[in-house]
Amino acid sequence: MNALTDDVVLNAQAAFEAAKTPADLENVKAQFLGKTGRITELMKGLSQLSVDDKKAQGAKINALKTAIEQALQARRDALQSEALERQLQAESLDVTLPGRVRHTGGLHPVSLTLERIEQIFNSMGFSVAQGPEIETDWFNFTALNTPQNHPARSMHDTFYVEGGHLLRTHTSPMQIRHAVQHVKAHRAALDRGELMPEIRVIAPGRTYRVDSDATHSPMFHQCEGLWVGERVSFKDLKVVFTSFCKIFFESEDLTLRFRPSFFPFTEPSAEIDIQFATGPLAGRWLEVAGSGQVHPNVIRNMGLEPERYMGFAFGMGPDRLTMLRYGVNDLRLFFDGDLRFLSQFQ
Ligand code: PHE
Repeated sequence: MNALTDDVVLNAQAAFEAAKTPADLENVKAQFLGKTGRITELMKGLSQLSVDDKKAQGAKINALKTAIEQALQARRDALQSEALERQLQAESLDVTLPGRVRHTGGLHPVSLTLERIEQIFNSMGFSVAQGPEIETDWFNFTALNTPQNHPARSMHDTFYVEGGHLLRTHTSPMQIRHAVQHVKAHRAALDRGELMPEIRVIAPGRTYRVDSDATHSPMFHQCEGLWVGERVSFKDLKVVFTSFCKIFFESEDLTLRFRPSFFPFTEPSAEIDIQFATGPLAGRWLEVAGSGQVHPNVIRNMGLEPERYMGFAFGMGPDRLTMLRYGVNDLRLFFDGDLRFLSQFQ
């Protein structure tokens, strides 16, 4: 019986070991410790023994039972820690993984330039006006003293849309639109012969021309400037525009050149060129704006008397300014929408 009973413990250990899950283990347990298990069987065998043998064998069987229970508990513990280990493996965090970047987006480089332009001109007392991109012939050309046969009016240069309208070819129509509003607001004072508050405004926005290459896009930006008062002269234009350029480019090392030119709506007219003393563009003259004294016919179309009111206007290219400021040489990059390019300006 000794050999047999010791085997019971070894068998139980082996069977417990073979159980791979807690449920298996509980099933196997019944074979040894259950109502019909090996220990119960051994206990039953005691009834045939003498009282002394019963005592001795009984104690032995109890010891076996205790050994089996310990083996069972050991296996339970082992299975539990295996399960825990597996769970830790499965749920582990790889803290070396790179984090997920949250893309926040940002302003387009040309928008950054427009914001900058607005800030600078605001600081010089200019307000900001906006107007339609689909214009009438009157505001885009006629009111700006542009003759019927002017080449800018041709289909080669201007996008016409249905109904006789067109995509504005410049922001200059805003000169008329804004001035007319301003004059209307001060009509009563003007009628009393009083002096009207000055018009001092910029009008940034999109403009369109039939044109496309590295430095021309069919859609581009302009920013109009207009200052009209009693004695606003070309000298004021020079001061305002020169100050603007120095602030915009954060440099005193630049020179402006007002090169005589022609626009139907200004007289005299000038192209404004800028030259940097240092940097990659040093020494080159770069055209940044058209400008001039507002033509008397245009003053009249604003609803003002040219004998009393005068001023200057300019139209600059924010796309151009952006290219110069950031050293970009192809205008089309701004409008391709490639994030690899655009995100560099954030
Ligand atoms: N509108 C002109 C252009 O697009 C620029 C300009 C504006 C010139 C105002 C003079 C005065 O070229």
